[in-house]
Amino acid sequence: MKKWMQFLILITSITSASALLASGGMGEDSGKQMPVVANAKWKAECGSCHMLYHPGLLPERSWNKMMAGLDKHFGENASLDTATRDEITRFLALNSADKQDNRRSNRINQSIPASATPLRISETRYFKAKHDEVSSATFKRKSIGSAANCVACHKGAEKGDFSESQIKIPR
Ligand code: HEC
Ligand code: HEC
Repeated sequence: MKKWMQFLILITSITSASALLASGGMGEDSGKQMPVVANAKWKAECGSCHMLYHPGLLPERSWNKMMAGLDKHFGENASLDTATRDEITRFLALNSADKQDNRRSNRINQSIPASATPLRISETRYFKAKHDEVSSATFKRKSIGSAANCVACHKGAEKGDFSESQIKIPR
């Protein structure tokens, strides 16, 4: 390799390392956030009864199981026509916790035993560990309803933002 090329490579790596540092890329939040994802049918159909749950909160097998049983969805009939269901299933699978490389999704995925296929995020070991200081009475407050209503306390929940600075428990 020519001397000037070695120099160029050195400069490039120094610049990108300091850019990473400056952006906090190597700080504690590095790779933690889930990416913002969107699909029009998902927004319309899965956001009509409750908040939108980011696909990165559950593994692909959970979404597949949920989408195969929409006629009996937590006591509700949430059935869709086949084309809409298939499109949403693909979107959820593609962005599911086991297809993500952000730290939060990885941790959620790791907290679920390979033999389990949970349909509730709020029942995963990861969720329980993160909320062990929130009492069940708090979750039942009128302003919250249940643990499933993430957006009551995490205002960025629908965008997949669960960062600590965005948490506020309503009275
Ligand atoms: C007809 C109303 C309705 C529609 C439409 C609907 N849901 Fe639900 N969903 C519910 C109810 C009710 C619950 C239970 C909420 C609770 O326990 O507070 C629920 C719970 C969930 C949960 C579990 C949350 C948790 O961690 O406890 C997920 C995930 C979910 N729904 C995903 C979806 C997806 C994906 C779609 C679109 C395909 C969808 N829902 C459409 C009514 C609906
Ligand atoms: C009653 C309010 C409340 C509800 C509802 C709630 N959370 Fe939380 N959540 C909290 C609090 C408080 C913490 C911070 C715990 C701590 O820092 O010790 C937290 C922490 C978290 C964290 C970890 C944040 C971090 O970076 O350490 C995640 C992820 C999270 N919640 C996801 C969810 C999801 C997903 C839902 C819905 C299925 C949900 N939460 C529902 C209050 C809530």
